[in-house]
Amino acid sequence: MKQDLLLTDCRLATMQAGAGAYGLIDGGALVLRGDHLAWVGSADAIPAEYSDIKVEKLDGRLVTPALVDCHTHLVFGGNRAQEFAMRQGGASYEEISRAGGGIVSTVKATRAASDDELLQLALRRLDDLISEGVGVVEIKSGYGLTIEDEIRMLRVARRLEVMRPVKIVTSWLAAHAIPSEFVGRADAYIDEIVIPGLKQAASEGLVDAVDGFCENIAFSAAQIERIFAAAKKLGLPVKLHAEQLSDQKGALLAARYGALSADHLEYLDGQDVEKFATSGAVAVLLPGAFYTLKETKLPPIEALRLHGVDIAIATDCNPGSSPISSLLTVMNMACTEFSMTPEEALLGVTRNGAKALGLSGEYGQLAPGYLGELAVWNVDHPADLSYWIGGSPLHKSISRKSKP
Ligand code: NIG
Ligand code: FE
Repeated sequence: MKQDLLLTDCRLATMQAGAGAYGLIDGGALVLRGDHLAWVGSADAIPAEYSDIKVEKLDGRLVTPALVDCHTHLVFGGNRAQEFAMRQGGASYEEISRAGGGIVSTVKATRAASDDELLQLALRRLDDLISEGVGVVEIKSGYGLTIEDEIRMLRVARRLEVMRPVKIVTSWLAAHAIPSEFVGRADAYIDEIVIPGLKQAASEGLVDAVDGFCENIAFSAAQIERIFAAAKKLGLPVKLHAEQLSDQKGALLAARYGALSADHLEYLDGQDVEKFATSGAVAVLLPGAFYTLKETKLPPIEALRLHGVDIAIATDCNPGSSPISSLLTVMNMACTEFSMTPEEALLGVTRNGAKALGLSGEYGQLAPGYLGELAVWNVDHPADLSYWIGGSPLHKSISRKSKP
C-alpha cells in the first residue's frame, strides 16, 4: 500500500484547460493517494481530511505533469552518422533513402541485433528522456520489417516499461519502408507481412495503435487505407506519418479513420486544416526532424491554431531524421523554428501529448483522478523549460503507478 503524501510549498503548472496560462497555481499543494492525484489546489485551501498525512515540502519548486513524448522510434540497432556526413555533403534524405540508405540501413542493423542489445541501446535513450522528466513514451516498430523482427521490437518496448518508472505506448509501424525482399511489391508486403503481423502482434497484446509512413518513398494513401481498415477490424486506433516530405493527403485519410494523430505535417495544405480539425485528431509536430533535414517548409501552424487543432510535439527520436533524445531541446526548437509559445510547447508535451496517445484523463494534467506522475523542476517559471538549451533542470520525478 503506497503512503498518502501531501506535497506543499510549490508552484503548479496544472495544464488544465480554461485555468489561465499553464493552469498556474502559486503556493500550490497536491495530495497523492494510491496511484492517483486525490486533490490539487492552493495550499491555503487543503481540505481538513488531509491534515494528518505525510507532508513533503518542495521549497517553492515548479511541479508539472510528467512529460509525454508521443512519437519516438526508440528501439533500433546501429547508427547513421555516415548519412549525416553525406547530407552535410549535399545529399538529401530522399536521395539517400532511394540509394538504399535511410530506414532500410537501420533495418539491417536492427535485424542483426539481439533482443538484449536492442534493449540496452533503447535504455540509454530512454534514460536520457527520463532525466528530463518524461514519464510517458510512445515507441514504434518499423525497423524489423519481418513479422518476427517487428514483434521483437515491440517486445523490447514492453520490457522497457518493466525496467523503468515510465508508461510505454506501442505502435505497429511495419508500413515504415519497403524491405529489400519486397522492392516493387509494396502491396504484397502489406498482404504478407504488415496485416498478418499486425494480427499476430495484437493477439499478443503488443499493439496499442497502428501507424504508417504515407509518402512517395514509402506507402501511398490507398495502401495505408488497407492497413487502417485492418486496424479498425481489430479495434485498434490509428495514427500516421503524414505530409513530411510531400502532400499525399495523408492527414485527411487519418482524419477519416478517426486517428489519434497525424504527425510531421510540414506539407499539410492550409486549406485542408479545417476538415482535419473536425476529426479531433491531434497534430503532432516534430521539430527535431525539421531541424535535422534542414526543412524550410513550415507546418501550417496559424491554420492549426485558427481551427482549434490540439498541437503536440515530440522528439521523433530515430537514427535518421531526428537523432535526438532531449524533449526539452525539442520544446525549444518548437518555439524557435515554429514560433510556438513556451506555453504551447509545454502543452504539446503534456495535455496534448497525452491526447495524441489516447491517454487524456490519465496523463498530462495535474487534476484529481489523474495518475500521480509528476516532474519537479528547479526553475521559477514554466517558460524556463523551453528557454534554456542544455543540462536538465529536473529536481526529481515522482511516479506512483504500479509496474505492469
Ligand atoms: O519519423 N518518416 C519516417 N520515419 C522517421 C524517420 C526514420 C528514419 O529515418 O530512420 C521519421 O522521420
Ligand atoms: Fe517518426
